[in-house]
Amino acid sequence: MVKSSVKRFGILTSGGDCPGLNAAIRGVAKAASSVFGMEIVGISNGYRGLIEGDARELSPDDFSGILTRGGTILGSSREKPFKGRDDGQASDAEVGKDKPELIKENVAKLRLDALVVLGGNGTNTTAHLLSKEGLNVIGLPKTIDNDIWGTEVTFGFHSAVEVATEAIDRLHSTAHSHNRVMVIELMGHKAGWLALYAGIAGGGDIIIIPEIPYDAVSVARDIEKRRSEGKQFSIVVVAEGAMSKEEADLPKKERRRLREKMPYPSIGYRVAAEIQSMTGMETRVTVLGYLQRGGTPSPYDRVLATNFGTAAAELLARGRFGRMVCMKDASISSIPLSEVADRTKTIPADHYMVDTARLVGACFGDGA
Ligand code: F6P
Repeated sequence: MVKSSVKRFGILTSGGDCPGLNAAIRGVAKAASSVFGMEIVGISNGYRGLIEGDARELSPDDFSGILTRGGTILGSSREKPFKGRDDGQASDAEVGKDKPELIKENVAKLRLDALVVLGGNGTNTTAHLLSKEGLNVIGLPKTIDNDIWGTEVTFGFHSAVEVATEAIDRLHSTAHSHNRVMVIELMGHKAGWLALYAGIAGGGDIIIIPEIPYDAVSVARDIEKRRSEGKQFSIVVVAEGAMSKEEADLPKKERRRLREKMPYPSIGYRVAAEIQSMTGMETRVTVLGYLQRGGTPSPYDRVLATNFGTAAAELLARGRFGRMVCMKDASISSIPLSEVADRTKTIPADHYMVDTARLVGACFGDGA
């Protein structure tokens, strides 16, 4: 066995699930147990399991044969242990017993030298706060949204791009058959990476993302232009967090209040209604939803998640805590959690892929 500064650690998955979580768990666990001789404690349902002490030792049988399985064998939750504690937003009653204290108690009870957490922005922000409380924590970047600061890619993202692209491909044939406008709404609240990549991969004609607020008149004009060129159908790819130019100028709370009054369940339906009323073209909506989060990871994500997992095991062995594994300059690396916490990686307005999309004729509804 190779020498390790960690003898026993806990592992948890937190936030929205995605393909690749089990591949990452397998990567951490196989390297940690077989190369460094570490004991592994699986913590159930994200940080909630750590607060409740819901954990069990994992054996090699637990992390064998899970490379291709979707979801997470550990379960997940969106528990935020520090919510309300430090921002003074919640009363003592609401905050309840100090969850971070419960976590520290359970880490001691479970005899954990360290924690490995797989999650998105919120999860890695919590990991940073736990590090500041003195715990040894290592984060892995997981989300289909690809919006985690400090890493060029997150696992789960490319699997979701594949699902979304296949859906767009299928919409092309039915849109063409019926001379319709097909709006497909993809996940991605804060960042439009999924819509941008799948929009390009699927040949979307219009791609609407949170980073580029849209103008309904421009969208209609782009569709009319296509029709004047003989294209009797269009594919519109919309990220669930997209907004109009008018909404972008409003404070977030005001924007949310206005949305709640609108007769549309989500942005995709609103965009479709605007298109249909302005162009007179039959328009239909597909909300891809949780299909983007389910199923087996793509080969790319299996490799990425395994690389991230084994890198986390090496950080554990070397005692390099308070860091998140990342992809940097197309290589596996790690950065301090303090650089990741409370940040979101959105698409820069001058990102080359926005230019690429425009150069092949896609529009972003911004009139450019
Ligand atoms: O964070 C990933 C994500 O899939 C977002 O794209 C989506 O808006 C959100 O999770 C859905 O969250 P939940 O699974 O809690 O409904």
